[in-house]
Amino acid sequence: MKKLYIETLGCQMNKSDSERIAGILSQFGYEETQIEKDADLLIINTCSIRQLSTDKAYSKLGVWGKRKKTNPALKIAICGCVAQQDKEKVRQRAPYVDLVFGTHNIYELPELIKQIENDEKICAIRNKPVVCNQNDFKIIRKDSVNAWIPIIEGCNNFCTYCVVPFTRGRERSRHPEEIIQEAKNIINEGFKEITLLGQNVDSYGKDLKNEKITLANLLRELNKLQGEFRIRFVTSYPSDITDDLINAVEECDKVCKYFHIPMQSGNSHILEEMNRHYTKQQYYEIVKKIRQRFPLVTITSDFIAGFPGETEEEFQDTLNAMEELELDYSNTAAYSPRVFTKAGKMTDKFIPENIKSERLERLNEKNREVCLKSNEKFIGKTLKVLIENQTEKEGVITLNSRADNNKIVHFSDSSKKIGDFAKVKITKAQTWCLYGEPVE
Ligand code: SAH
Ligand code: SF4
Ligand code: F3S
Repeated sequence: MKKLYIETLGCQMNKSDSERIAGILSQFGYEETQIEKDADLLIINTCSIRQLSTDKAYSKLGVWGKRKKTNPALKIAICGCVAQQDKEKVRQRAPYVDLVFGTHNIYELPELIKQIENDEKICAIRNKPVVCNQNDFKIIRKDSVNAWIPIIEGCNNFCTYCVVPFTRGRERSRHPEEIIQEAKNIINEGFKEITLLGQNVDSYGKDLKNEKITLANLLRELNKLQGEFRIRFVTSYPSDITDDLINAVEECDKVCKYFHIPMQSGNSHILEEMNRHYTKQQYYEIVKKIRQRFPLVTITSDFIAGFPGETEEEFQDTLNAMEELELDYSNTAAYSPRVFTKAGKMTDKFIPENIKSERLERLNEKNREVCLKSNEKFIGKTLKVLIENQTEKEGVITLNSRADNNKIVHFSDSSKKIGDFAKVKITKAQTWCLYGEPVE
């Protein structure tokens, strides 16, 4: 067997793609290793959401390129969003790369791999995805408890700051039968959690032109499958969350009461500049509606600090939103200009770096404050958790679990193991996690 090392940057969609790449290549004589220097084939699956993640990809390639001097047989490949975006230009910066492939053609790898084994140098980027049944290919999943299923890929929203519509293309939903088959396989293999993935997961089915195919109905179908497991879905676009979806989450006992709904900014004018299709008020109403329906629900978000033209007052609306909405956790980032995007061309409105980082620091401070408050709300409550892994310190085993509402919960219970469900009464809250005791 040859040895394959994959480094994955970016979102869960990329992590899921890497599991599929490892699966495909395992059928062509490649076994995955965690040790970079042992590899015959190095692949970096890249993310271009911000400049920092793009730079990370090229700096890693630089390190790998040097290895070729001592090991000329070594093959290097780059895929993912930077590859899809930069195409042949990858080679201008990293001429030693053997294979550039994109987000649309991982299922072409069987042919591509043969070509690079014949010492060809290839740049295989497609503008349209290869159509296939993904279940025909093997997947080597990294985790033993949670399994990802991509259900819709691409994005039609064109938020003015975001490169994703350019790197992932337009929205494409997988057929429900294909998804249900993958879910059945996952459950048979013993996984306890299924996370449905999409850049915009609640757009699921719109492109299939059958009004019965929606995320809500997909959840209902998956909920009917036999076995003890739970279901999550990410990421939701605020104005695409329908009442029917909220009803489905309520009806389906296996579906976690958890919503990740990026708000991006707490100011309606900035939201408009971002081409987000909702106002601050509409976002507030969605949060209120969800909180009324589910007592233990958590709602998490993403925010950008320092979007072009953002004033101090507009930024403060973001801080206020985080606090007023009692958001349970938020991913935060300073605005980073991206190629092809509208906001990337608003150079006259760019916010100076020092102001962006100062705003980001305040945003992070507010995030820590509201997260702790959110966690403290759960003291005395009992949460259903799934044990993801365990750590041992001085002979004491701590079980690290995640509650249905996505909170991280640490506890000890010698009768439980990884992959078990448990009920835990929360006794202590910290900023990023909860502690508790098992209850019957
Ligand atoms: N589809 C999801 C987000 C996918 S990208 C949604 O609609 O919300 C993940 C996050 O990266 C975004 O939520 C945004 O907060 C952040 N992001 C995207 N482009 C960015 C940029 N140019 N600069 C800084 N953060 C960005
Ligand atoms: Fe990017 Fe907006 Fe699409 Fe999310 S909805 S992936 S932020 S363009
Ligand atoms: Fe990054 Fe591409 Fe995901 S840009 S966030 S890896 S879709």
